[in-house]
Amino acid sequence: MNVKKIRHIGLLTSGGDSPGMNAAIRAVVRTAIFENLEISGIIRGYDGLINKDFISLGPQSVSNIIHRGGTILKTARSEAFRKPEGRQKAYAALLEQGIDALVVIGGNGTFRGAIDFINDYDFPIVGLPGTIDNDLFGTDRTIGFDTALNTILDAVDKIRDTATSCDRLFFIEVMGRDTGFIALQSGLAAGAEFILVPETPTYIENISRLLDHDWRQSKSSGIIIVAEGDEEGGAEEIAGKLRKVAPHYDTRVSILGHIQRGGAPSAVDRVLAGTLGYEAVYALLNGAQGVMLGMVREEVVMTPFHQAVSGKKNINRNLLEIARILAI
Ligand code: F6P
Repeated sequence: MNVKKIRHIGLLTSGGDSPGMNAAIRAVVRTAIFENLEISGIIRGYDGLINKDFISLGPQSVSNIIHRGGTILKTARSEAFRKPEGRQKAYAALLEQGIDALVVIGGNGTFRGAIDFINDYDFPIVGLPGTIDNDLFGTDRTIGFDTALNTILDAVDKIRDTATSCDRLFFIEVMGRDTGFIALQSGLAAGAEFILVPETPTYIENISRLLDHDWRQSKSSGIIIVAEGDEEGGAEEIAGKLRKVAPHYDTRVSILGHIQRGGAPSAVDRVLAGTLGYEAVYALLNGAQGVMLGMVREEVVMTPFHQAVSGKKNINRNLLEIARILAI
């Protein structure tokens, strides 16, 4: 393990942006400066490292960003960094710049890149979980998840107004390529009739039967939240399948898309970002390497990158049942 004294930290955001990344950047920068460390921002994630796109960061560089969505450091999914030649250039750039350690903020792809880089060069890197997907093991919540939920709720509440007025059944697609965390929590919070997630099988006939039952009881409109990665397809596809077996419903589809990634971070995300950003600097100073910082039951914990990306973080399936009962 690399035991060089850390004097200069490099900081980057990578992968999909998430609300709260700026609050995390601010926390890392200000804590590093408090500890008299030098701190450089790297623009556009690992691509910026390869292209030597560095900026020097001072306390004022991060003024007035705590409330802003996106990331002032910009972000990218780097193809070049997946290759040994790309990582070799990145390492040379770090040496040239005199950077002793990195803080990387992102999701699965970001940490997989960090794992490869550490394997190649034994370089000190710690990570912060920045993704709306909440699909990282080793943290109850990722930075951006709570804000995305609130954005979705705002949209679904509005769609509910028109669904109720026009007696329609809405399929609302939310993000989540591989996991249903976003769909599950937003669906429960929005009072959806059904929540369709990749982790559980979706039976169209079943939904049709239950809808008929609901409509016979009292309902005349409904909301079905669909995770984009549901194994039966996205909202368009599933709505199409339902129309075939239940043409009597007046169905509409709304795909919320990238609106879910933007906007001012919620208080929950700002507190999480601030705490983990601060802790990341001390983790590096205390010799941590190859770990993601997360918050589990209000405690800061460190999880090796390989566990963070491949450890099993399960959705709470009980919430599906609860949501269904609460929607009768
Ligand atoms: O990983 C975050 C995420 O927002 C996913 O939920 C979504 O599937 C994906 O990014 C969208 O990526 P892009 O911005 O490349 O369209």
